[in-house]
Amino acid sequence: MAEFRLPANSTVKKGKNFKAEAGATNIRKFNVYRWNEDDGENPRLDSYEVDMDKCGPMVLDGLIKIKNEIDPTLTFRRSCREGVCGSCAMNVAGTNTLACTMANDEIKGDINIYPLPHMEVVKDLVTDLTHFYAQYASIKPWMQTVSPTPSGAERLQSPEDRAKLDGLYECVLCACCSTSCPSYWWNSDKYLGPAVLLQAYRWLVDSRDEHTGERLDDLEDPFRLYRCHTIMNCTNTCPKGLNPAKAIAEIKKMMVERQG
Ligand code: SF4
Ligand code: SF4
Ligand code: FES
Repeated sequence: MAEFRLPANSTVKKGKNFKAEAGATNIRKFNVYRWNEDDGENPRLDSYEVDMDKCGPMVLDGLIKIKNEIDPTLTFRRSCREGVCGSCAMNVAGTNTLACTMANDEIKGDINIYPLPHMEVVKDLVTDLTHFYAQYASIKPWMQTVSPTPSGAERLQSPEDRAKLDGLYECVLCACCSTSCPSYWWNSDKYLGPAVLLQAYRWLVDSRDEHTGERLDDLEDPFRLYRCHTIMNCTNTCPKGLNPAKAIAEIKKMMVERQG
């Protein structure tokens, strides 16, 4: 029978409360999920009062300030701090998003921060993306050709064909969409999920790629593609404004068209 309650050792407990420095008048509270396998404790929610007059505008700025000035044990991923590396994906105020592109001002009340849902946590806000990346590798995310490479020239593409990649190439593989998808939560061992399927479609529509048939063969499976039930969480959550659900629908259309 399905188990809907968290096991006792996964229940999130109340954690520590870090008070703002004396004299701060513009304070906001960041409630942050903490878990460290090494201490054998349950996860907890630590609260940090942050002086917003001395903090940058984005959620990531708040986390960096906490780590630098309040609690160096806090662990999270980040790199570019401008929405292009995808590494600061986490659940902020109930939505999967990039901490570096979400402004603190967009959030009312306390700023609640958790790791991406339904993923194994490595520590605090860092989740294990090994399986996600392996699924990405499985769709062969590179150009595959059979015709000889044109000598001394690139493989050209018309402006119209290039435009077909818009809305796809911008994906930063942050996993916000896949980890918001109920089908992916329950079947991530077999279902590829919206991020990887959007990437699969990016290669299916690239006019220079010559392995379209093989790519479709690889997706023709009850789980890898067809677990998408058009619930649309993926599209609603994508911090880059992309539409993975549409890309998945387009792949399904290609499957039907090639049978006709
Ligand atoms: S489609 Fe959007 S949410 Fe999904 S991995 Fe790409 S950028 Fe992230
Ligand atoms: S539309 Fe498909 S991929 Fe997107 S959230 Fe729903 S089931 Fe998941
Ligand atoms: S730090 Fe690179 S996307 Fe946020």
